[in-house]
Amino acid sequence: MGLALDRGGAVIGRRRFLAATGLTGLAALTGCGPLTAEVAGLPLPSALPPPRPFAVPLPIPPVARPVRPGHYEVTQRAAKVEIVPGTTTEIWGFDGHFPGPTFDLRRGEAATVRVRNELPVPTSTHLHGGVTPPDSDGYPTDLVVPVGRTLPRGAHHGMGGPVEPTAHPGAKDYRYPVEQRAATLWYHDHRMDFTGPQVWRGLAGFALIRDDEDDALPLPRGDRDIPLMICDRSFEEDGSFAYPSLDPTLVGEPGVRGAYMAGVEGDVILVNGAPWPVCEVVGARHRLRLLNASNARRYRLELRPGGRFVQVGGDLGLLAAPVAHDALVISPGERFDVVVDFSAYRPGTEVTLVNTLGDGPARNVLRFRVTRAVRDDARVPRRLASVRPAERAAAVTTRVFDFRRSGQGPASAWTVNGVPYRPGRTLARPRLGTAEVWRFASDFHHPVHVHLAHFQVLSRGGRPPRASDAGWKDTVDVRPYEVVEALVRFEGHRGRYMTHCHNLEHEDMAMMADFEVV
Ligand code: C2O
Ligand code: CU
Ligand code: CU
Repeated sequence: MGLALDRGGAVIGRRRFLAATGLTGLAALTGCGPLTAEVAGLPLPSALPPPRPFAVPLPIPPVARPVRPGHYEVTQRAAKVEIVPGTTTEIWGFDGHFPGPTFDLRRGEAATVRVRNELPVPTSTHLHGGVTPPDSDGYPTDLVVPVGRTLPRGAHHGMGGPVEPTAHPGAKDYRYPVEQRAATLWYHDHRMDFTGPQVWRGLAGFALIRDDEDDALPLPRGDRDIPLMICDRSFEEDGSFAYPSLDPTLVGEPGVRGAYMAGVEGDVILVNGAPWPVCEVVGARHRLRLLNASNARRYRLELRPGGRFVQVGGDLGLLAAPVAHDALVISPGERFDVVVDFSAYRPGTEVTLVNTLGDGPARNVLRFRVTRAVRDDARVPRRLASVRPAERAAAVTTRVFDFRRSGQGPASAWTVNGVPYRPGRTLARPRLGTAEVWRFASDFHHPVHVHLAHFQVLSRGGRPPRASDAGWKDTVDVRPYEVVEALVRFEGHRGRYMTHCHNLEHEDMAMMADFEVV
């Protein structure tokens, strides 16, 4: 922990120094070289001693039940839960759960979700990976105002100037056409300037889309198909979540204390809301739907004492063919659908999912305990789905989105193409039904996410994509001084959407941009 702190501190110290001397941008970070190569945020140490790892069972989030076919109602509210054994934590959750209930959706069956807000702050709910009409996409200023309240004054000035929000009193109906292929999506808060702290408090959950193509495959199913939401949190001595907000009520000044602008990393790793849980599995193949729901932390996942991830899907559904990985780097917002064959281990074996980028206890994520050998009918076929490979020639134009820190001292912000986010300022107008090459450039770790439009990675640092870039994606891990090129398809809806960094502190500190599909 001390080392990590020094490490993070050194980054900021150096950046501050360089900002003060006017040496920002490229020069400021290259000098940090290998020390910062994989560290994406700044560790926030817990005051509470860390809980014993592998002592609590892995929870599975409840499945949302429709109030009538195709209609759901959820209430965002505070709840007291036991995360660290022996303490209570107040969370903000959908129906009081963290993670929120899992929406089990089916391609071709539209869903309406009424989100009612009983929290003390406004919210906006985004279905990440969804092909959603713009008025249901969770635009940051399209706010659900708490029941019985008005918008808090002065809360929505935005980093880029004054903002006129749209206010829905008490509740809003989000309409999801669900015309897209099967995939592991997730939903989370997207409120202007406050997404980081509001997701940290618990406003996130899974939405799984199923379809005939996925169902027809002999992949593991039922209780051998497990969604795993991985995120990090820190705790105060009394068990409450720690987060370095400038205004902990989240109604006044947005933002975090200085150095945490790089991103907040917790020192306790939660999976489905439980710290370093343990999951009993039979000796058979399991489908694990990995989601990195952390604000800033990147993970390089490996199995100990050894084992492979056979990737069958990426952010937006099945790959054309499985890809085997010994390790998987997952950045905030990304998903990997993998099959792990636990028949490879003798019953009684403990298999630990570790993060080789983590320090100390944060190196552990989750432990599987293999109980007994069973018959296994599941397998991973050599061909999974028909996925047309992206062709650069299909693009009608190329655009550059440069994700970097701009400005100096207290006036500095995370920007896209040199400008801090301002709602309504449109950086691109792609045409519906076309594809474009988008080049994402960066000065730091920026997990770049695009709403609505799905993409395939064409190149990374001028070279072919890495193995884990395969398939349709909505979020891509762009590393310091790297350029990632993606073929982006604009399909489904016209209107205003956004691209942004999914490091939520960067997002809150202006690293977003609007685009409009015309
Ligand atoms: Cu998962 Cu605009 O975010
Ligand atoms: Cu999204
Ligand atoms: Cu970023």
